[in-house]
Amino acid sequence: MTTSEPEDFIVDFAGKLREGPADVIDVACGRGRHALYLAGLGHRVVGLDRNVVHIQELASEARRRGLAVDAFEADVESMSLLGGCADAIVNTLFLYRPLFASYVRALRPGGVLLFRTFTTDNIDVLGNEKPGRGFLLELGELRRSFPELEIVHYAEAVIADRAMATLVGRKARP
Ligand SMILES: C[S@@+](CC[C@H](N)C(=O)[O-])C[C@H]1O[C@@H](n2cnc3c(N)ncnc32)[C@H](O)[C@@H]1O
Repeated sequence: MTTSEPEDFIVDFAGKLREGPADVIDVACGRGRHALYLAGLGHRVVGLDRNVVHIQELASEARRRGLAVDAFEADVESMSLLGGCADAIVNTLFLYRPLFASYVRALRPGGVLLFRTFTTDNIDVLGNEKPGRGFLLELGELRRSFPELEIVHYAEAVIADRAMATLVGRKARP
């Protein structure tokens, strides 16, 4: 279950985004709690989700608040992000491993990946039925998945009754 509040690590690490409007992509953004939060800090955000109702709600809320959010209905499993197009990528409560390489390519030098989703402990330790095992990271997997990024923060922990892995990683500047 998601709320309209941003995940704590997004708030904690939003200061790692480059100053001035940063170009942010929120992948599988849902109703866009992070897109709205980061746009509220002055960044330009593209939100992508396949749920058209969520995308319409996000677009209308962004308009109401006067925020720079472009919300697109998109199946992110059948797309690849343009290389060097983003200062930050947000991926929360969503897992589609084939996108990982595209995240690294899409980040500009100095760009930041903000990633959090469920681990197998969500079933094995907490006994939560959802999401199913196919949507869970193995323990240690998230850290191993982005060797090209400098790890700014990594944690595997139970947060609000959910077992999650969190990674904040930065692409090196040349
Ligand atoms: C648990 S919600 C998380 C939403 C948001 N990231 C958040 O943390 O609030 C998972 C989202 O992934 C979206 N999603 C699942 N598969 C997708 C796909 N192939 N392409 C785009 N969005 C997808 C769903 O529509 C849903 O909005």
